This record gives sequence, C-alpha cells and structure tokens, in this order.
Amino acid sequence: MAYSDKVVDHYENPRNVGSFAADDENVGTGMVGAPACGDVMRLQIRVNAQGVIEDAKFKTYGCGSAIASSSLVTEWVRGRTLDEALAIKNSDISEELALPPVKIHCSILAEDAIKAAVADFRARHPEGAATLVSEQ
Ligand code: FES
Ligand code: FES
Repeated sequence: MAYSDKVVDHYENPRNVGSFAADDENVGTGMVGAPACGDVMRLQIRVNAQGVIEDAKFKTYGCGSAIASSSLVTEWVRGRTLDEALAIKNSDISEELALPPVKIHCSILAEDAIKAAVADFRARHPEGAATLVSEQ
C-alpha cells in the first residue's frame, strides 16, 4: 500500500513539531492513544485572549499517517476558534490525506487529540478565554 504524496510530504516535513512551555497558561494539551496500534499523539493549542487558536504543536509516536494527520491539524486549527476547531472531522483529515481504510483510525486519533486539547483548555479556563492575560 502506497502512502499518498500529502502523507509523505507531512511525514518528511512535519509542521509544528514540539511543545509549549509547561507553565504556559494559555495552552491546552490533548494526549490520546490508539487502542488499535498503541500509537500516542500529543497535541497542544495556544489560545489568545479572543479565544482564537494562534499556534499549535504536536508530538506523535506513531505511524506515518498519524504523524501526517497531526501535522495537518496543527495547520488547520490555527486561526480558528475553539468551536471551529471542534468541527474538524476525521473524515476531513482522511480525505485530505487520501488515507486508505486501514489507516482511518490514525485520523480519528488526530480528531480525538483536538477534542482533548480543547477540553483541557476549557477545563483550565472555565470563565472563557477572555480571562486570559494578554501578552502584548
Ligand atoms: Fe505501528 Fe501505528 S501501528 S505505528
Ligand atoms: Fe495506528 Fe496509524 S495511528 S497505524
């Protein structure tokens, strides 16, 4: 089974690999694992005072499709509100990357990671993003 060009591109040149400082209050972290294969994905979002995701980073221990899926969603969530980020579906990811059926769970991992990151951010900021301290 051949990987699509887009998977190979994200796999060879992953966007936004890394993590934010552990004490960054404006960050939400989602850590998810895939029961089907044991792969692990950590996705972090950094949210500004307007409630918009201004940056995202990931670390994925997993297959090429999981790395490509997480790389892609770090690009997609930038500039989106939290609700808009939650609207990203694994089917959008698998379509964009032309994932074969056996690799669909890798894109589900990325959708789950976004949802977990948003939930973590909201749990840390129950009053909403407007209470965040603006840096500029
Ligand atoms: Fe081995 Fe995903 S199944 S890396
Ligand atoms: Fe399990 Fe890709 S995340 S094979």
